[in-house]
Amino acid sequence: MEKLELKTSVTVYENLAELTQDDTLLMNKAIEARTKAYAPYSKFKVGAAFLLENGEIILGNNQENAAYPSGMCAERVGVWKVSSEFPGIKIKKLAITAASENLTVNKPVGPCGGCRQTLSEYEINQKEPIEVLFMGEIGKIVKTTSLLSLLPFSFDSSYL
Ligand code: THU
Repeated sequence: MEKLELKTSVTVYENLAELTQDDTLLMNKAIEARTKAYAPYSKFKVGAAFLLENGEIILGNNQENAAYPSGMCAERVGVWKVSSEFPGIKIKKLAITAASENLTVNKPVGPCGGCRQTLSEYEINQKEPIEVLFMGEIGKIVKTTSLLSLLPFSFDSSYL
């Protein structure tokens, strides 16, 4: 028997003022995307901004549906936009933010499990890590050095 210890190190920033200029710019783009989310049911708006290696910034936000499971998260809307418009172009960074009409989201909102799995496919394919930054509406910002660090024992094509 063997016991494995899984370690993920992240950087936690107190507020936007502590981020680099580039990271602040990307997070501001995610905030812009968030305001345009279509979330009439949950009232929980999520925005995602992807910085590509060619300098493009692609935005995504959650798109809900009266048939609830037919909606989609901001991160997947965004990464599929990236992959459909810029296939083969690497993603350098992803910034995520969430805000609710029902409460103040004051803690960092990481991508859901399904989005982590979807995003991992692209990080694996591009063979370069994607930095992920996430926050709520206010408060701390978490920054990871890769997507896969958020998804230990992830499923990938090597199992197929
Ligand atoms: N949502 C996202 O867009 N990203 C996540 O990572 C978590 C959840 C959306 C889905 C739904 O529209 C709303 O937030 C409430 O779950």
